[in-house]
Amino acid sequence: MAKIIDGKEISAFVKNRIAKEVEEFKKGGKEICLAVIIVGEDSASKVYVANKEKACEALGIKSLKYALPESTTNEELLELIHKLNNDKSVNGILCQLPLPKHLDEKLIIENILPEKDVDAFHPVNVGRIMIGDYDFLPCTPAGVMEMLKYENIDVTGKECVVLGRSNIVGKPMAMLLLHSNATVTVCHSRTKNLADICRRADVLVVAIGKAKFVTADMVKPGAVVIDVGMDRDENGKLCGDVDFATVSEVASAITPVPGGVGPMTIAMLMQNTLNAAKKQL
Ligand code: GUN
Repeated sequence: MAKIIDGKEISAFVKNRIAKEVEEFKKGGKEICLAVIIVGEDSASKVYVANKEKACEALGIKSLKYALPESTTNEELLELIHKLNNDKSVNGILCQLPLPKHLDEKLIIENILPEKDVDAFHPVNVGRIMIGDYDFLPCTPAGVMEMLKYENIDVTGKECVVLGRSNIVGKPMAMLLLHSNATVTVCHSRTKNLADICRRADVLVVAIGKAKFVTADMVKPGAVVIDVGMDRDENGKLCGDVDFATVSEVASAITPVPGGVGPMTIAMLMQNTLNAAKKQL
């Protein structure tokens, strides 16, 4: 049976470290502030935003929430972003995605100042990640790297397979593993011999968005399996992209869903907000 990599424990460790730094920062008379924008009524987004606000509160970071109506126009949203860009008391800006269909996500992201872009979605920040010279990392891949570090899993020279090629997870994940000297393969829905490639992995990171997609026969005995998925199974129960019951019999270490990568994402957002404030000072 694999060791369970406990995201709640590791995120608490990271948040504790951040809280201490926030306290130090505040001793200098400065407050750290994150502005969170949500447009419309998406219920999952509302939960995510509420969790981000709670995390800010717990760590002593001020949060400003801007809940805008579904009918908000690109111009109105841009006006708010420009106002927050120019507000020196705001260190980080996050616009919760997805935005309603009539809004131009790309335009909105590109208008957030790169130094306040705590999601690291702005093309400038994406480019900086590519060259390994960055202030912010996208929260989920950063959270995965923190988990590996906490568990003393060194990826140097190892075969790491990333399943999924999204801009938010798969691509930056591959880049971070590469910066840590892993041999990285990225697979996706069109990959031939997917199971064979997954079976080569010493570390398998799965972010493909399909419930229980990775089964035990796709995993090398002793591999580390990181499940970024957040899906629902046939009974509507929360599960990951990995079939935990069978894969945990083969892997040496595995993240559960829930309680794995999920809690790390918000911890890393707090880290990015702190980093933004430090950099701006
Ligand atoms: N929607 C789902 N995940 C995220 C995230 O990490 N950042 C933002 N801005 N929106 C999201």
